[in-house]
Amino acid sequence: MEKENKPSYRFRNHPSRKKLICWSLLIVLSLTVMFFILRTSSPSHTLPTEELVEIPTEQDEIPTEHVQIPTTEVETGPTWEDLVIKSSTPTDSTTHHHHKIVLVTGAAGFVGTHVSLALKRRGDGVVGLDNFNKYYQTSLKRDRQKLLENAGIFIVEGDINDMSLLVKLFETVKFTHVMHLAAQAGVRYAMKNPSSYINSNIAGFTNVLEVCKSLNPQPAIVWASSSSVYGLNTKRPFSEKDRTDQPASLYAATKKAGEEIAHSYNHIYGLSITGLRFFTVYGPWGRPDMAYFFFTNKILKGKKITVYEGVKQKSVARDFTYIDDIVKGCLAALDTAGKSTGSEGKKKGLEAPLRIFNLGNTSPVTVGELVRILERLLNKKANKEVKEMPENGDVMITHADISLAERELGYKPTTDLETGLKKFVEWYLAYYDVEGKKFDTGS
Ligand SMILES: NC(=O)c1ccc[n+]([C@@H]2O[C@H](COP(=O)([O-])OP(=O)(O)OC[C@H]3O[C@@H](n4cnc5c(N)ncnc54)[C@H](O)[C@@H]3O)[C@@H](O)[C@H]2O)c1
Repeated sequence: MEKENKPSYRFRNHPSRKKLICWSLLIVLSLTVMFFILRTSSPSHTLPTEELVEIPTEQDEIPTEHVQIPTTEVETGPTWEDLVIKSSTPTDSTTHHHHKIVLVTGAAGFVGTHVSLALKRRGDGVVGLDNFNKYYQTSLKRDRQKLLENAGIFIVEGDINDMSLLVKLFETVKFTHVMHLAAQAGVRYAMKNPSSYINSNIAGFTNVLEVCKSLNPQPAIVWASSSSVYGLNTKRPFSEKDRTDQPASLYAATKKAGEEIAHSYNHIYGLSITGLRFFTVYGPWGRPDMAYFFFTNKILKGKKITVYEGVKQKSVARDFTYIDDIVKGCLAALDTAGKSTGSEGKKKGLEAPLRIFNLGNTSPVTVGELVRILERLLNKKANKEVKEMPENGDVMITHADISLAERELGYKPTTDLETGLKKFVEWYLAYYDVEGKKFDTGS
């Protein structure tokens, strides 16, 4: 008997055992607390750090410092809720338009800025959300933010992965629509920082859908997919019916994953979801990591630009789409989005709409022609170096079939590349104060 009891006695009362158990409990407890603190209060740990962000090619040479934009200082009095509510309140009640209350994620981004301004202009309530990450100059994002502030649009600074922030935002405002544009964009950067694509384009998008599905009423969602989902598809022009299961880059794969995730949330929870496959969007306030933007910078400085071509000198071409046309497509998608049919995480029987549209220009232009147009507009010859395109995820040609968007959204792009680039160059020269031109926000 005594022999049998001994080990159990030792186990219960041995002092070093006790200590060990206490310490283990303490460590487990601290790890759990740390995990929750990290999850809720600093989602930015997933963002690209300064040194990770050097790939977007030539962009670091773009001047950023000397831009002067009138600022509207945020008053210290009103609380965060007041700012959000004010921004979300529709302004113009004189039109017949049934006003929407839209959360625009990625509002400090290129497309997000233009879409937010267009919605506000027609009287809709708009609140932005952006984490101002450092993928490209944050000064450009901050200047876009000032533009929105001047128009009465508040951007909530935060990450779409921050569930408690999203919950708070949706508790504060009953959004009728979500225009989801926040994403890690760019094809080549995925080779440097793959996790940023997974975090924003897959986990972040799922987080947005998770919050939306649990609301009553659920908002309708319009979000940006990409023409890159066509990947290695060779049938042209690209139609929504074509295969999209051969992505050529991780970026494309995450956008395709988004489309599948959207399908499941529509199917299970009755969320109304519209995906828009944008084709190479360009224009004023554009993205510095895109060729038309950094070519302009380099041509002006007399620096060498690399023009890629395919094997046997095949040209690389893009279906460049002007920002104003894309904005019209986004607004039409919001206006025609049917209602979500579920509520509080449950489908209520009726099927909700699930749509996908190409938003392109239907006329691909070669990169060579893009350079010739820029040379004309800048009145300067480019110092070109032609290289074979490396296997980095870019595809040879993109070309949109937009007949579906034409039929269902009334989408009709009206800006050709030369006209659109002229507007971009005018903005660029003014914004970067090239040749002493002063920047004017028009406000
Ligand atoms: N511009 C194009 O040619 C193009 C083409 C196809 C698809 N798209 C898609 O359109 C959307 C808008 O693109 P854009 O050109 O305006 O890009 P952008 O990088 O200028 O805008 C995206 C914005 O989202 C923000 N953001 C990124 N991750 C976030 C996160 N986790 N939480 C909160 N904010 C976050 C960024 O700070 C940025 O301001 C993206 O979804 C992009 O993938 C763009």
